[in-house]
Amino acid sequence: MEKQVERFKLELPSKRREQDAMDFLHEFMEANTVIHGSGGLDYVESYDEWLKKLEEDRTRKPTEQRVPAETYFLVRESGNKIVGVISIRKVLNKALWNFGGNIGYSIRPSERRKGYNKINLFLALCVCKNRGIEAVLIGCEKRNIASAKSIRALGGKLIYEYMDEELGYEIQNYVIDVRHALDKYGDTYAPMMLEYPA
Ligand SMILES: CC(C)(COP(=O)(O)OP(=O)(O)OC[C@H]1O[C@@H](n2cnc3c(N)ncnc32)[C@H](O)[C@@H]1OP(=O)(O)O)[C@@H](O)C(=O)NCCC(=O)NCCS
Repeated sequence: MEKQVERFKLELPSKRREQDAMDFLHEFMEANTVIHGSGGLDYVESYDEWLKKLEEDRTRKPTEQRVPAETYFLVRESGNKIVGVISIRKVLNKALWNFGGNIGYSIRPSERRKGYNKINLFLALCVCKNRGIEAVLIGCEKRNIASAKSIRALGGKLIYEYMDEELGYEIQNYVIDVRHALDKYGDTYAPMMLEYPA
């Protein structure tokens, strides 16, 4: 029998997802691993506070300290399960130009190495296109092979790398041409999309 293709969507976090989000977060805590691209789910006092912060992030005027951002859950159709998270910073400040860039993401530890971050990033690029963002900068620790491969799989070009003496590790900065990536990889990822991001 032909294998069913898994389908995914980006979903704005809401109150009704509170329990699922807590399960998602606990999985990272139990694995003692960091969560990137959650807009602070791991450090806020409560889920309600996080929802409030995400709303502020979405509408914020950019400053050197804070920039506007949109954070989504990556939800898999089967089981209606949160499998990842992704945050899109719509404007960059000086610090983000240096490291971090426009997009941060994580896939929950039990769902890694299934290609999910590639569809996560593809869906985020669709959001970028909708917002008029033509190119995205994505920073990555050089030793984070899974992240670097995700970026390269969507056409990311390494533009520079450097040793960050303060952090103590090498940083790579990649650029993805949004329209080019969507054109080139659309046929691959369209069957995996449950809905086109708003
Ligand atoms: C980075 C991360 C999001 C990757 O998620 P993932 O769903 O496992 O990635 P995918 O399955 O889509 O794999 C992407 C590519 O990386 C490769 N890959 C994944 N995990 C790997 C690993 N541990 N070692 C080597 N390659 C790996 C895959 O084979 C794939 O390569 P391909 O395109 O050649 O097939 C995930 O490891 C994670 O959440 N890490 C913690 C948070 C983080 O580091 N975020 C990035 C900083 S913003």
